[in-house]
Amino acid sequence: MAAQLTGISLIFKTNTLRRDPRSFAPFPTELRKERIMGEHDNTRRGLLATAATGLLAASAFRSSFAAQPSKKAGQEREVGAVEDLMREHGVLRRCLMVYSETAIRLRGGNRLDPQPIQRTAELFRRFGEGYHEMQLEEIHIFPTVKQAGGPAAAVIDVLNTQHERGREITAYILQVVAKGSIETSDAEPLAQAFESFVRMYRAHAAREDTVVFPVWKASLSERQLHEMGERFEDIERQTFGHDGFEDAVKQISHVEEALGLADLAQFTAPPKA
Ligand SMILES: [Fe+2]
Ligand SMILES: [Fe+2]
Repeated sequence: MAAQLTGISLIFKTNTLRRDPRSFAPFPTELRKERIMGEHDNTRRGLLATAATGLLAASAFRSSFAAQPSKKAGQEREVGAVEDLMREHGVLRRCLMVYSETAIRLRGGNRLDPQPIQRTAELFRRFGEGYHEMQLEEIHIFPTVKQAGGPAAAVIDVLNTQHERGREITAYILQVVAKGSIETSDAEPLAQAFESFVRMYRAHAAREDTVVFPVWKASLSERQLHEMGERFEDIERQTFGHDGFEDAVKQISHVEEALGLADLAQFTAPPKA
């Protein structure tokens, strides 16, 4: 009963966070520059390709291409700091998808195995809260963006509050599933906790991806951004002892398999009736 009341009161408190409306920041000048440079680069590549018409040139091109070391996709190429943050959001979004599906099943009166839910909440706590939020965003991203001022700075306090609220809800979820089975009296409060959590984090991560991270990136020089990418890799290694992202993807994939959610095709919208 105490747990149920805690869950309800936590959910009720979440509703107070539904103030989140801030306007999008215009694209900073440096980002526009990047895009323009990319266009210029494409033009240059086009001219070079046109010039390389002779047999000799084609042969030289093939040799130089063949001389490149073979790379496994996504393994050896450098992952930039912002790409790192955004692909971590990808793992967290897959956790949210598990929570959404679980809420539907709980409402359907199904008796659920708490193990996959527990593994998802533990992954979110360890990878999302303990690493992505507490070691990257709260230390390296938010202070810089707040200092920059403007619309992105204005949402930082809300984002911090949502981090704290998320940790409370994760603690509640873990407390319920630690009982070993989901009691009937816990089903509805748990479903509501999942819904509140998913609603909050969808808005949260979308705002970070589209407003906060671009401003953070624009506030750093190319060298600083590169250094931050390396710093993030060091933190990841220190925290997990290996590639935390790869491991997190494996863990959420196993949960999806256990719940019958691994086949992406099942999420394709049905054809028009
Ligand atoms: Fe965040
Ligand atoms: Fe985030």
